[in-house]
Amino acid sequence: MKPSAPVVRRSASMTSQLGLTDRIFSTAADRGLAADIDAGIDQVEAMLLAEVTFTDDIADVTGRYLLNAGGKRVRPMLALLTAHLGNGAIPDVVTAATAIEITHLASLYHDDVMDDSDRRRGVPSAQTVWGNSVAILTGDLLFARASQLMARLGERAIRLQANTFERLVLGQLHETVGPRPGEDAVQHYIQVLADKTGSLIAAAAQAGVVFSDAPDEFEQPVIAFGEKIGVAFQLIDDVIDLSPQPEETGKVPGTDLRAGVATLPLLKLRALAPTDAAAGDLLARLERDVLARVGQPNTPDDVTAADAAITALRQHPVTSQTLSEAHRWAGDAVDALDSLPKGSVKKALTRFAETIVERSS
Ligand code: IPE
Ligand code: IPE
Ligand code: MG
Ligand code: MG
Repeated sequence: MKPSAPVVRRSASMTSQLGLTDRIFSTAADRGLAADIDAGIDQVEAMLLAEVTFTDDIADVTGRYLLNAGGKRVRPMLALLTAHLGNGAIPDVVTAATAIEITHLASLYHDDVMDDSDRRRGVPSAQTVWGNSVAILTGDLLFARASQLMARLGERAIRLQANTFERLVLGQLHETVGPRPGEDAVQHYIQVLADKTGSLIAAAAQAGVVFSDAPDEFEQPVIAFGEKIGVAFQLIDDVIDLSPQPEETGKVPGTDLRAGVATLPLLKLRALAPTDAAAGDLLARLERDVLARVGQPNTPDDVTAADAAITALRQHPVTSQTLSEAHRWAGDAVDALDSLPKGSVKKALTRFAETIVERSS
């Protein structure tokens, strides 16, 4: 059994990483909100450490492994932000935000098995350290723990958790089986993103409103915001997947493609290929040098050919179009907040949306 990774010391406050201490946040109220969010994140962090503890020394090591490896804490941050539409980071909000982050953490253990990803949060993925069974079981334990936490908050929280988890899993399932015959591949893909990622981010935003006793009329706007941000977030992920900087992303360039996982640049290329010869050539190259090699042993020459095909996809217009699409979803997310009162929370959510699409890891 390998020891867990050292706890990552974050050099900047979480709010500054998400753009909430930028110059536009200049009023006393804005600064007060940023300080409250940082204090709330510290509480979530403490609760994560306390709750990712099982009465089992093996599960403690495997469960804390990815928790300690890092993570942006986007979901708890969003819950804490929307909670400031109500009574702020009261204990129920902190509990819900922690449960949502543990749900996310659990999904990462499973996702890396499904996607055959070697690295996560800058460290070897759990299954490369302990094998598939331990990684899957660790994810299951974390899901159980998230449910236990939600149960402390009552039936509404349990329902929110169960409905969200169901959507997340259906998203992963639909991604795995792909579109049905005749179904539009890009539309199917966007739905998958909304389900596998948008659902949990929307649940974080909703939990902030619900458990801070904020007015009911804020619930739907923040759910719509969270869902759209989730899609934008994943589209950026497709661009990051092609990033040439593994030290920044914590992943090998083209991880998803190399595992045969569809991304929007590839789907767009497929749609272009019948009428665009250059797109057709690049697609053929990707199919030969990357997709046909999924699960095959690779020589150094195979790796060089795959790297070159992935670089060509990064430089093709379909990748910049994916980036534009991400920005469009982030813009729609901000539009969904129209009916919220003007003030620091709305401003912070807007900045949050912008930062999500500017992220590079
Ligand atoms: C990664 O999510 C998995 C997705 C749902 C895209 P994050 O980018 O929020 O992962 P961490 O928590 O910062 O590692
Ligand atoms: C992760 O999606 C979604 C969930 C874990 C539910 P991806 O597979 O696209 O995310 P990364 O690229 O591994 O972080
Ligand atoms: Mg993955
Ligand atoms: Mg995946």
